[in-house]
Amino acid sequence: MEYRRIAPIMGNLWSPIAAVTSRWQERSNVQIAVAISAASIVPEKPRVILQIYKTNHSHGMIYNSGAFALNFLRLDQLDLIKSFGFVSGRDQEKLKDVSFRLGEAGNPLLLECWGYLDCRVVNAMDGGDMTCFLADVVDGDILGDASGDTGVREPPLWWREARRRLPAEWMEEWDRKIAGEIEVSKSLMNEIGPTPGLTPWMKDG
Ligand SMILES: Cc1cc2nc3c(=O)[nH]c(=O)nc-3n(C[C@H](O)[C@H](O)[C@H](O)COP(=O)(O)O)c2cc1C
Repeated sequence: MEYRRIAPIMGNLWSPIAAVTSRWQERSNVQIAVAISAASIVPEKPRVILQIYKTNHSHGMIYNSGAFALNFLRLDQLDLIKSFGFVSGRDQEKLKDVSFRLGEAGNPLLLECWGYLDCRVVNAMDGGDMTCFLADVVDGDILGDASGDTGVREPPLWWREARRRLPAEWMEEWDRKIAGEIEVSKSLMNEIGPTPGLTPWMKDG
């Protein structure tokens, strides 16, 4: 298989960009994710699937708390991709200057975003380098009004749109980060256990 030929298909499967918030032992964290999909056909019982890489600080927090919130970003929130998605909560208090409230499932909900889903994990699957979390959506809202002459709501921010607008030096920084993570994934992705779990180096979240 020539994997470069299918890259456009794979690229189209990413979701709009979400700031994934979590809270565990009185500490809050946020990361960026695009590996999200709807996972229920029952409108009044919405579910999502979220994939989180095991090396992320958020992984231990979501695994331990059994909850997360998806805060989808607006087109004017490009800067949050860098501040939430390029650094780890192990090294920085990423929500320090961000306004949020705690939602029904205990997760931080950003006051400024396109819309949010507050979720409780109901099951998980080990993916080797990542965990797939299946979650009930317990609360959610779309924020802001439809604006402009047309009265049509702006779409949320997608990675394919964002990467065209990010400064070149940010993209270089991202390419360096993802290259390192790809190497870690290559070494872990076939180590799939029967149940999801924390590997020893993540036990403290
Ligand atoms: C555009 C973009 C998409 C991302 N998608 C995901 C994703 O779907 N799942 C994931 O676990 N990490 C994803 N990441 C990476 C994390 O956001 C990043 O590694 C972050 O620094 C982890 O933070 P943490 O260690 O505080 O949890 C993405 C990053 C960016 C910039």
